[in-house]
Amino acid sequence: MAHTKFHLGYFTKFGATSWPGDGKEFGSQWTDGSYHKELAKMLEAAKFDFILFEDSLIVGDRYGGSMELDLKNATLSPKLDPLPLLPVMAQDTSHIGLIATASTTFYPPYLLARLLSTIDSLTKGRAGWNMVTSSEKNAALNFGMDKLLPPTVRYDIADEFVELSRQLWDSWEDGALVANTETGVYVDHTKVHTINFEGEHFRSRGPLNALRCPQGHPVLCQAGASERGRDFSAKNAEVILGMMTGGVAGMKAYRDDIRRRAESFGRNPDDIKVVYLTPVHIYPDGGEPPEMSDADKQSAFEHNIVMASSSLDVDFSLYDVDAPVPQDIVAGGHTSALEHMKKAGREEGKSLRDLFSTAKGASGMDFSGTAEQVADKLMAVMDEVGGDGFLIEGSGYNRQLPDLVNGVIPALQKAGAVRTEYSGTTLREILREF
Ligand SMILES: Cc1cc2nc3c(=O)[nH]c(=O)nc-3n(C[C@H](O)[C@H](O)[C@H](O)COP(=O)(O)O)c2cc1C
Repeated sequence: MAHTKFHLGYFTKFGATSWPGDGKEFGSQWTDGSYHKELAKMLEAAKFDFILFEDSLIVGDRYGGSMELDLKNATLSPKLDPLPLLPVMAQDTSHIGLIATASTTFYPPYLLARLLSTIDSLTKGRAGWNMVTSSEKNAALNFGMDKLLPPTVRYDIADEFVELSRQLWDSWEDGALVANTETGVYVDHTKVHTINFEGEHFRSRGPLNALRCPQGHPVLCQAGASERGRDFSAKNAEVILGMMTGGVAGMKAYRDDIRRRAESFGRNPDDIKVVYLTPVHIYPDGGEPPEMSDADKQSAFEHNIVMASSSLDVDFSLYDVDAPVPQDIVAGGHTSALEHMKKAGREEGKSLRDLFSTAKGASGMDFSGTAEQVADKLMAVMDEVGGDGFLIEGSGYNRQLPDLVNGVIPALQKAGAVRTEYSGTTLREILREF
């Protein structure tokens, strides 16, 4: 049976991605971009569609009001800004898409539209923007705000931000650049327009002072999970990052919902690729996980509890981590992940320590085993879901890279489930190849 052909992205950060583990020797060497240049080359050789950098603007202290565990484990910080890294990675690659996160809550639209246009030029049309509204109060404090506005308002602002950005990117028509030495005209001024944007949140006269970039505008990505977030995604995004909570049925329902919403916005749903974030666990020796040492378990626990404290907006230090998951925990942030944890406490007697001491990022779906087994599991799930791909979690899993690119990917390629070559050159062309 022919498999559903799917897209592959690699999810990482401009940070100390191999800490803890066998990457300790990296120290601060990753900060000059050399590590990620090698990574991009490796992923391009494996024909990944893109590499995507998450980002945030805080040092985490939600757990116990202390920065200690975040900094000790390099969990949420330190992180450098991924935007300038994209052109650095582009220098040694020619096809792989390069996507970075930037917040619509903190950037002024003109600055970000210009920056992304510049990066699309520097990468010759391989740039993408993961649009986030940011969810950490401390980030608001870093920008002189007392608090974050409610999520729905942040999305209203983001919608306007994207609309304004599009108008700025389109303020230069195709063909505005003439560079005619005979007439002495560099740019045809009749093809460059003011936009006089007057919104509820932003105003901008325009035009952008940058040449139209190779893709016209970067590929837009987003990960809406709430009703409002899904609408924002379906209206604006070309790559949508989904979670796998709810298993195959949940994945399918999410994709169907996004596609339905996109149609209601007058879009062709096939122009949208939904990719699901997942870790993979490749165990060469008979497909069995190696026993985790106590030190590994402790470091996974610290990493996961800091991540969860921040993303769920819960101070887990206030709860007994060795008792069955307390049922009275209240999340300020996303609630569905917390409900799964409470259920594991109620029905299986699991403690927070049990849940947080396993390998990072457990999604409830099992993509573990030998390279062949992992490939088979990925294909089986994608066949059922119907599209459009996976976003393989990289941070913390870098030691698996050789098994991923030399084992899992060739097995997927052999089965015809992923690409073996790029025919397009820009990121948008590559995403629309199938
Ligand atoms: C794969 C993935 C990557 C994400 N990356 C970031 C990120 O880099 N920075 C950030 O602030 N939020 C990030 N988010 C959070 C989303 O932007 C979004 O807020 C979240 O999925 C919840 O959806 P909602 O805002 O509709 O509730 C990410 C979410 C997912 C699923």
